[in-house]
Amino acid sequence: SKGGFDHFMMKEIYDQPQAIHDTLMRRLDEDGMIHLDDIKLTKEDLDGITKMYIVACGTAYHAGLVGKYAIEKLAKVPVEVDIASEFRYSDPFIDEHTMLIVVSQSGETADTLAAMKLAKAKGARVLAITNVVGSSVAREAHDVFYTWAGPEIAVASTKAYTAQMIAFYMIALDFAYKKGTITLEAYHETIKKIEALAPLVQEILADKDEIEKIAMDMKDAQNAFYLGRGVDYTTAREAALKLKEISYIYTEAFAAGELKHGPIALIDQGTPVLCIVTQEALEEKMISNIKEVKARGAFVIAITRKGNTEVAKVADDVIYIPGADDLLMPVLSVIPTQLISYYVSIARGNDVDKPRNLAKSVTVE
Ligand code: M6R
Repeated sequence: SKGGFDHFMMKEIYDQPQAIHDTLMRRLDEDGMIHLDDIKLTKEDLDGITKMYIVACGTAYHAGLVGKYAIEKLAKVPVEVDIASEFRYSDPFIDEHTMLIVVSQSGETADTLAAMKLAKAKGARVLAITNVVGSSVAREAHDVFYTWAGPEIAVASTKAYTAQMIAFYMIALDFAYKKGTITLEAYHETIKKIEALAPLVQEILADKDEIEKIAMDMKDAQNAFYLGRGVDYTTAREAALKLKEISYIYTEAFAAGELKHGPIALIDQGTPVLCIVTQEALEEKMISNIKEVKARGAFVIAITRKGNTEVAKVADDVIYIPGADDLLMPVLSVIPTQLISYYVSIARGNDVDKPRNLAKSVTVE
């Protein structure tokens, strides 16, 4: 049921604090240590892994991009992220020191499944992050992390994505602890910070009317752009996918630093440019990018941390979200972008839960 909401998508956006809470809390023991029950990797196994691939499609691929940041930063293993339909045919370099992590909400995506079969055949250790117990991807994997997001019905993925990011933070922390690349103190501190995300998501949801008003400023656009740097570029990519798939507005995400290498030619009078500005070290650079697109006529909607006074001086609209560690910000910054996609799509008279031409799970290659 839609739980009193008009659409499954909105219900699922609102399920996110619970999904984050369940995915994390159900795996902590009384000492606050993470237990990944269906992951059997020992310290020896992990020490033998010199390279990881994360492979998925669509939104799950974007969660993988966040996963790369988390695993490289905490567990200190190099990670490559690829789209399943590309990975399969790229003759990937895999041996017994390679780990493949696949991400799939449904656990039934054909290309993702094929990618893991290929990696397994070449000797990789395969870990699956999935939301569906007993799904094909779960059955094919050596190790499984189940996200506890609950059933996701809307075609546009929302709560599965936030739960997948939480899964990556936890996997990265667990691996880091086993490998000895993190202190016990930092391990516990990070878990506390992940725990704190659920109420912060709730806080953003409480601003939904304000976000709806801002969304109305761009509802008639023919095209739109998302910009970000670092892990904010990942949020930009996920946000662009969400907006295009349900609003049918042509939307692209760009790494803000690439603007001058071509994309800025697309900016015209009134073009909506949505800027994600949450990474402290990259903020100044983002502000220069906002000025650049403004000078070409863009209408800038920025998403930034509360307390940031600089962004409001250059952007047309600002959505403020609570702050967290840079690495955890994607869980918060994606929330307003989901709401924007939803409200714009409704305003354009679209069927948000069942966008045209799309299926919930893509079981053909
Ligand atoms: O079930 P999966 O996670 O494997 O699905 C992957 C993509 O098909 C899916 O995330 C798709 O991109 C969504 N419609 C995005 O909202």
